[in-house]
Amino acid sequence: MEKKNTFYITTPIYYVNDAPHIGHAYTTIAADVLARYHRLKGDDVFFLTGTDEHGQKVSQAAEARRVSPQAHADELVGRYQSLWKGLGISNDDFIRTTEERHRQVVQSALQQLWDKGEIYEDSYQGWYCMPDERFWTEKDLVDGKCPDCGRNVEPLSERNYFFRMGKYQTQLQEHIRENHAFIRPETRRNEVLGFLEKPLGDLCISRPKRRLSWGIPLPFDPEYVTYVWFDALVNYISTPGFLRDPAAFQRWWPADLHLVGKDILTTHSVYWSTMLMGLGIPLPRGLFAHGWWTVNSEKMSKSLGNVVKPAEMIASFGVDPFRYFLLREVPFGQDGDFSKDALINRINSDLANDLGNLLSRTLTMVERYSEGRIPAPPTEDETEDDLVLKKKVEVLPKEMEEAIGNLEFQKGLTAIWQLVRQANRYIENAAPWILAKDPKQKKRLNAVLYNTAESVRIVSLFVAPFMPKTAIEMLRQLGFTDPEKEPDLEESVRWGRLPSGQAIAKGQSLFPRIKLKEANQTNADQKTPSSKKKKKLSPPQDMITYDEFSKLDLRVGFIQSAEKVPDAKKLLKLQVDIGTEIRQVVAGIATKYTPDGLLGKRVILVANLKPAKIRGVVSEGMLLAAGEKDVLEVATFLDKIPPGTKVR
Ligand code: MSP
Repeated sequence: MEKKNTFYITTPIYYVNDAPHIGHAYTTIAADVLARYHRLKGDDVFFLTGTDEHGQKVSQAAEARRVSPQAHADELVGRYQSLWKGLGISNDDFIRTTEERHRQVVQSALQQLWDKGEIYEDSYQGWYCMPDERFWTEKDLVDGKCPDCGRNVEPLSERNYFFRMGKYQTQLQEHIRENHAFIRPETRRNEVLGFLEKPLGDLCISRPKRRLSWGIPLPFDPEYVTYVWFDALVNYISTPGFLRDPAAFQRWWPADLHLVGKDILTTHSVYWSTMLMGLGIPLPRGLFAHGWWTVNSEKMSKSLGNVVKPAEMIASFGVDPFRYFLLREVPFGQDGDFSKDALINRINSDLANDLGNLLSRTLTMVERYSEGRIPAPPTEDETEDDLVLKKKVEVLPKEMEEAIGNLEFQKGLTAIWQLVRQANRYIENAAPWILAKDPKQKKRLNAVLYNTAESVRIVSLFVAPFMPKTAIEMLRQLGFTDPEKEPDLEESVRWGRLPSGQAIAKGQSLFPRIKLKEANQTNADQKTPSSKKKKKLSPPQDMITYDEFSKLDLRVGFIQSAEKVPDAKKLLKLQVDIGTEIRQVVAGIATKYTPDGLLGKRVILVANLKPAKIRGVVSEGMLLAAGEKDVLEVATFLDKIPPGTKVR
């Protein structure tokens, strides 16, 4: 059997004490997309995440609750584990630093370094930042405070153990220079090289037990526990079997990628690399440091009360839209700003209008024009539009491979969306609702339906790592009976794998459109001092307030089909695509328009009008038109505004 590639990817292990927030979710979702993509390619994947459970903060929080630190950690770890479940994270293992399998390896690694003379005892004099649990020398301090967090530091003098980090400075510089992809993005790589220009000191790796007992004891001096970072970083080798299971370790190490946030790049690129050098273990193949999220342009913090809780986002907007947003909104590596409005806009435009609409209109057409079964693949000459569509499908795998390799999630998603938009355009240009009227065009109609449905299937393959549930639902609605089965990407991306004759299973729309609450309230609502003083005017008769007007949900509708209502001279029955669904509308416009004259027009639909029966036919909305008794003209858009776009 052909040997599979292995792919070992990690997230940082999160402080068990912290309530999981958008930052934790971000790293983990990104790692999950990579893990899923590699599995899709047939690689053997090991995806590791976990929790960092030792240290001062855990021990203080436990003390405040009068429980043991272990009991405290046992209770809190569930928050991460259930969030990862909720976010669809497909990790293969979950390491807790309080587990025996980890503790033993940390102790053995410390012992090895001690035996080799890589660790020595010395007295330490300097400053200590209690909240960060970090030592600083006099010259590190900024205005007498911790250079990292700006909080007060305490003078400290005590005996401690040190790792000879400094002696690896040149070796590390060379490694970074020679291995271009070792630290990404490039700007972060340069930052680390800049940091290494200054002399690199040794690293204090112990804490006396009398000051901090909640840690892993040094095997060669039980009066001390090890520094929390020395403990935490080792998770990357303890879990895949270092010193415990040599065969497994050899299989997975070196890790392909440690994904981290920009704040913990130094610990990963400098502390971790030199620790591995000391242990004589090869360095990981790569580190990638992503940016940070602000919230409505402010730093996210408990005190500002603006912490974005992933569980709340899932409850309000669904898992997949949240996953999509985080990776689509900003280029990975750069900082980004989170706001609910931005999330809702993405959902409405990219997910409801583009992807959801593509699936729903494709299936509606298969239902209507092909008795709910995928027609046979076309055998006739291809049109220009067919070729353009197939070209997009053809280039997608390569574009995706490149984007994922460079961790350019945004680029990968944009490439998928180019196909989605092309498929939507394809439908509009081919106008199956017109083809359906002419029996001579049956072959062409089938070709259009097949090509559209096949594009949707291929879109689902590439969407899967980003939005796993959505991909499954797309395949299910396309009629696959085993949509959760992991496909073989190489085979599945080939054009024409959609079985003809397959009965589709049209279901609910993938992404219901979300109403964006009026962020800016009306002037009358704004309680400015001057408006308070103003006399409240009651609206003159026949005028409506802004609030009343804003109750109208006006949408761009695309007329897919039109026919006469029997025995009603003035009435036409229309099928109007409004992005998330197809509405049936009965309109009194037959004196002005023939049914064919309306096909493909983009009209304005009152989308929240209560459905009513007109001459026994259900009507789910109303078109805007000029004229009073007789219609002079229906209001339309000439540009290709996407169906469902709000009209204001
Ligand atoms: N326990 C250490 C990591 C040890 S790894 C051997 C730690 N844990 S943490 O709980 O603080 O979270 C770490 C991750 O969350 C980091 O990658 C960090 O960058 C990320 N984020 C925390 N706040 C963030 C944002 N506001 N935005 C994006 N990511 C952020 O550090």
